[in-house]
Amino acid sequence: MDDTIKLSVINMTKLYSNGDGVKNVDLDVHTGELVTLLGPSGCGKTTILRTIGGFIDLTDGDITIDGKSIITLPPEKRPTSMVFQSYNLWPHMTVHDNLEFGLKLRKIPKDIREQKIAEGLSLVKMNGFEKKYPGQMSGGQQQRIAIARSLILEPEVLLLDEPFSALDAKIRMEMREELRKIQTDLNITVIFVTHDQEEAMMLSDRIVVMSKGHIEQQGTPRQIYDNPVSRFVAGFIGEMNFLDDGTGKQIAVRPEHISVTKGEGGILSGTVRTVMMLGHYLEMTLDTDKGLVKVYINSDQADEFEKGDKVALNFDHTYSYNKE
Ligand SMILES: Nc1ncnc2c1ncn2[C@@H]1O[C@H](COP(=O)(O)OP(=O)(O)O)[C@@H](O)[C@H]1O
Ligand SMILES: [Mg+2]
Repeated sequence: MDDTIKLSVINMTKLYSNGDGVKNVDLDVHTGELVTLLGPSGCGKTTILRTIGGFIDLTDGDITIDGKSIITLPPEKRPTSMVFQSYNLWPHMTVHDNLEFGLKLRKIPKDIREQKIAEGLSLVKMNGFEKKYPGQMSGGQQQRIAIARSLILEPEVLLLDEPFSALDAKIRMEMREELRKIQTDLNITVIFVTHDQEEAMMLSDRIVVMSKGHIEQQGTPRQIYDNPVSRFVAGFIGEMNFLDDGTGKQIAVRPEHISVTKGEGGILSGTVRTVMMLGHYLEMTLDTDKGLVKVYINSDQADEFEKGDKVALNFDHTYSYNKE
């Protein structure tokens, strides 16, 4: 990643005829940066990606790559390439021909096409699959090919719309790691879309949190986790307990910022409702007079607590938000 700005979305608004869409989106993406658009279904992630890719027109604003506006160009003339959630390989074409198609459109000579196809397959570890058809491969394999097909076009900006959400948990994890490796090795600029906050935290240089058609917060995963600016972001990223403080505000506290001891006292007292073993830590839920509270504790304390125990809670760090 470097300091030059590869892509800018400038005060962009896209409204569909029914009034839904996204409003006043401002976003800069640096060269070699992986930026994730994160938010619940319907918040406008795909809309932003499709306006960048040229598949839908924007209502207002501008989009530039390397400082030049791209909004009058059709998708195939834009220096972007998009990978969709549903692989979108041509079912009647072999892997080889799927990969070759875009290169042919761009009038790349045959010998260079073959070289790029070989490079693309090796990047996604799919050498030897040239003659297979999409229907003969797993979802994960098809998505690898779809990513290779985009990569070999060497786009200035690669657009990925929930590319892994149809895959099993284990494959999804592997694909994330592979994508991140390829992206940093080749210094590719990527906009990645997901509704999965864990995926966004793992992959991103920067996360753009969206809600209801606007950007709620932008920052590194650390910044957003440590300093969520709103009740929405606090509730969407990581685990958070919300407690009414009786003044119309809400106190928010992360499970790892709560210390628990047996007995009376503390900021809040509670009763152990459940204890769950989650590997190297335990998750306990406590009944308190401010509602259910979730806490994490070290697994070496596993034997200290059981259902029904009276406990005292103390908070190391809290946030305060207006109720939404
Ligand atoms: N073609 C369309 N016509 C009308 N409304 C649409 C269309 N596509 C998306 N929308 C609406 O725009 C909003 C944003 O949708 P979308 O960008 O698909 O969100 P996301 O990708 O975050 O799930 C939603 O309210 C959705 O219903
Ligand atoms: Mg979408």
